[in-house]
Amino acid sequence: MSTIIDKIKELKTQRNAIILAHNYQRGEIQDIADFAGDSLGLSQQAAKTKADVIVFCGVHFMAETASILCPDKLVLLPDEHAGCPMANMITLKELKIKKKEHPNAKVVCYVNSTADIKAESDICCTSSNAMKIVSSIPKEHEILFIPDKSLGGYVSSKLNRPMILWEGYCPTHHRILAEHIIKIKAAHPEARIVVHPECTPDVIALANHVASTTGIAKYCKETDAREFIIGTETGILHRLRKENPRKVFYAITQLADCSNMKLISLEKVLWSLEDMIYQVKVPDDIAAKARVAIQKMLDLS
Ligand code: 13P
Ligand code: SF4
Repeated sequence: MSTIIDKIKELKTQRNAIILAHNYQRGEIQDIADFAGDSLGLSQQAAKTKADVIVFCGVHFMAETASILCPDKLVLLPDEHAGCPMANMITLKELKIKKKEHPNAKVVCYVNSTADIKAESDICCTSSNAMKIVSSIPKEHEILFIPDKSLGGYVSSKLNRPMILWEGYCPTHHRILAEHIIKIKAAHPEARIVVHPECTPDVIALANHVASTTGIAKYCKETDAREFIIGTETGILHRLRKENPRKVFYAITQLADCSNMKLISLEKVLWSLEDMIYQVKVPDDIAAKARVAIQKMLDLS
């Protein structure tokens, strides 16, 4: 009897498909993926794959980014409802109004945004390269950073560079509270505190290290410490525990669970390959404009 995983593997070969999974996906999805990583790693993989079909186990903006980078490939999102609330906190109309108010500003757009917002931006960034991208913009320009005020605020304070910040945020990361950390740290005083820059400034202030999801994985692997307090979406604990069986990881709170990321299941990956659903295709005119902003980022990364 063949299992769901056997069937996925068989169909993947038949369709010449690749499975990309974000670090927040369910463990079983990360385990069947050809590549699991952060937003930057995933877009780099999408850009270079020779596969005909990309099954994107993540959220809608990630599949859109793959479609923008690979307009000739079929990009599938196994659950059409897997969106990102932060990406929906800015509309094209609102962005155009803000740009008019700041005509000298360069728009730096976090990859957690829709394709039409990217198309209206000067350059994209992810949590792993935001510092480098912002630094590449000449000082004479104002910067409008969209849509994540937490990542924008973190970069702004690290670089000592004032920026106009959009009022968006990740509801999942904002459920992580400083008081949660203080309690866990009291029980495990030797543990290193490692958090994502989508967290609030008071959480970031308590951290020993701040990084993208792949940056968090790298830090935990390379650091000698044995215990870690992790401040990001709980899906990453699967990878951390798998890669570091002798180390101990504490989630700051189980409430940091992104229900959109968790919509993808093994069954849905199988159905996606069987029925070639749900196709994500960014219209050519928007894709062409958005590609400029994404490519500028990839060239700097
Ligand atoms: P990274 O994996 O790029 O750090 O992104 C985090 C995130 O919230 C994606 O939705
Ligand atoms: Fe969006 Fe936050 Fe979920 Fe990432 S974790 S997809 S930023 S809501």
